[in-house]
Amino acid sequence: MRHLLDTKTLSRADALEILDVAEDMADTQQREVKKLPTLRGKTVVNLFFEDSTRTRISFEAAAKRLSADVINFSAKGSSLSKGESLQDTAQTLQAMGADAVVIRHGASGASRTLATSGWITAGVVNAGDGTHEHPTQALLDAYTIRKRRFGGGGSRGRDLSGVKVTIVGDILHSRVARSNVWLLDTLGAEVTLVAPPTLVPQDVSAWPARVIFDLDDAVAAEPDALMVLRIQLERMNAAYFPTEREYSRRWGLDARRLEVLPPGSMVMHPGPMNRGLEISAEAADSPRSTVLDQVTNGVSVRMAVLYLLLAGERAGGPANDERED
Ligand code: CP
Repeated sequence: MRHLLDTKTLSRADALEILDVAEDMADTQQREVKKLPTLRGKTVVNLFFEDSTRTRISFEAAAKRLSADVINFSAKGSSLSKGESLQDTAQTLQAMGADAVVIRHGASGASRTLATSGWITAGVVNAGDGTHEHPTQALLDAYTIRKRRFGGGGSRGRDLSGVKVTIVGDILHSRVARSNVWLLDTLGAEVTLVAPPTLVPQDVSAWPARVIFDLDDAVAAEPDALMVLRIQLERMNAAYFPTEREYSRRWGLDARRLEVLPPGSMVMHPGPMNRGLEISAEAADSPRSTVLDQVTNGVSVRMAVLYLLLAGERAGGPANDERED
């Protein structure tokens, strides 16, 4: 794998390989093998033009657990404020020896530009670009669903055929929704989207998903996983957003809807959560919630992505590499 820019063009075989390598990575962590020497001598640059807690720290932890050196760049406090371009910023970091660049940017397509422009030779991982895609979030979500459904060791090589996943919320602005829709479809899941009509993208008819507008109908259909999206108030135009109270009443996962949801249904959220808006504390903190599992699994999935990007073919897998406790 040269780059990871989206899930729309990710093949089923590549997606399953990432999930299976992530299982290997999780196994090494569970056996308290704190560090693998696999990426010793490699440098991973986290190039973040937008804020992040989970993704940036998770990539940093993943790279360090594989013994890579990590350089963290955030737009705040950088020479971007003096007008430096993406090209010059990226080339500066490449000159410091970057082997992989993990980029989050507010512009849709920024990661593809970086990967295809010829500005740098490093592998590029999209950590969220505008409203376009967030592929590692979707991969860690699929990993979490697969693990809950089939158990740890029993899930290797399996896809999500027949699994019913409902995604509710601000689909319009969500790169998480887009990456999930493409990946879940590739893996055989049945995807339903639920949103206020004004938060559904215009091109949604081209997506491999059913669209409905009533969350109660979606809950009554007994999904295996209900994924709640963050309302992106910072990208919202008041003209097309219901009031927060109205949104919460009609599209929020509250205690009443949690009660109706089958006991085996997972409650997912990519974070950060707006508690009391799209999700209640009862739902976020319930035993059915996978919110913190998603965070934990994110490190294993990102270790797998960096491994496949920088160490090439599996060659027996990381679990068979020499360990460094
Ligand atoms: N889920 C996610 O991308 O969270 P961060 O914005 O904190 O990275």
